[in-house]
Amino acid sequence: MVEVHAKSKMGLNGSSGSGTQPINRRKNLSQQIWDVVQLIGDVVLLWVLVLYSLGERFYRYIVPVPERPVKGEIVLITGTGHGMGKELALLYASKGATVVGWDVNTKSNEETISEINARGYPKAYAYYCDVSNKDSVFEVAKKVLKEVGDVSILINNAGIMPTHPILDQTKEEIEKTFAINVFAHFWTIQAFLPTMKKNNHGHIVALSSCAGLFGLENLVPYCGTKFAVRGIMEALHEEFRQEKNCKIETTCVCPYMVDTGLCKKPKVRFERLMPLLNPRYAAKSIMKAQQTQQKLVSIPGYLVNLNDFVRVLPLKAGLYIKDFINSGVESDL
Ligand SMILES: NC(=O)c1ccc[n+]([C@@H]2O[C@H](COP(=O)([O-])OP(=O)(O)OC[C@H]3O[C@@H](n4cnc5c(N)ncnc54)[C@H](O)[C@@H]3O)[C@@H](O)[C@H]2O)c1
Repeated sequence: MVEVHAKSKMGLNGSSGSGTQPINRRKNLSQQIWDVVQLIGDVVLLWVLVLYSLGERFYRYIVPVPERPVKGEIVLITGTGHGMGKELALLYASKGATVVGWDVNTKSNEETISEINARGYPKAYAYYCDVSNKDSVFEVAKKVLKEVGDVSILINNAGIMPTHPILDQTKEEIEKTFAINVFAHFWTIQAFLPTMKKNNHGHIVALSSCAGLFGLENLVPYCGTKFAVRGIMEALHEEFRQEKNCKIETTCVCPYMVDTGLCKKPKVRFERLMPLLNPRYAAKSIMKAQQTQQKLVSIPGYLVNLNDFVRVLPLKAGLYIKDFINSGVESDL
């Protein structure tokens, strides 16, 4: 017979730190043997599953996951007035999706939506919405539900990037960067997830960045927001995974620098090897990642693997690699 005490909750003298009573469970020999057998079974199963997932990964290099059609889906994209948001809106519409575009820039947003409607794609809709304003997000989301229908794909794309040393970043800038790049994700998710859950159908996509994979100078708050987006999306996926039969997908995308004007002073050592990405190419890669239900992707794809590899090395080795690549953004001041 063995006594199992909740040791982790006890002090050295055996007294419970939190004042709770020690757990006193007695197990007979057959129960203990059964526990050990179960544990061995779990470990064997774990290794079978790990090896299976490695095999599946290898198989998917040869036979890629088929792209899920987006025809008939209602896709809400934030920041459709410019850059990747605009390209995403045009792409999704060209594939038969109904696009709902949100932006604070009414003029450029309406231009994007008019362009879609002029091309004869499914009717698209433009709304003014400041995604950093929770009330505005909920109010406009209600309108969308009534006037367009149930949003099935949400793409949190809108973002800003003040680029200067930390001591030059104002309180207002830092707060605004977090309000748009991070908090807005909570508001849009809370606004559209209930209908996705009701229909047990949906996909949430978020724009992180290569600045959400590794820290960069002049981008301390921005990197903070993009690392946060990666964490939010991983945790969200975990919540969906724990729900039985939940069919809502998540995709987090980390693009390298894209030629939209957001990076005002890009610094690239190997311009031929690592040129700024074309916004249309980036949008195509984002859409493909969504259609193939990727959880975390970088554009180009190797960045996420390079980051994983560098994190295994000693910190200094990672810093030498960073110095060698010597790319990022100069201060915009
Ligand atoms: N451009 C890059 O190099 C790059 C690289 C990696 C990740 N990203 C991320 O991709 C996303 C899109 O970047 P981009 O380069 O296409 O940006 P962009 O500046 O070209 O366009 C952003 C759009 O978002 C809108 N917007 C800004 N604040 C808003 C708000 N509060 N509410 C609603 N709309 C708002 C703007 O009006 C604009 O139309 C961002 O989240 C950015 O951080 C960009």
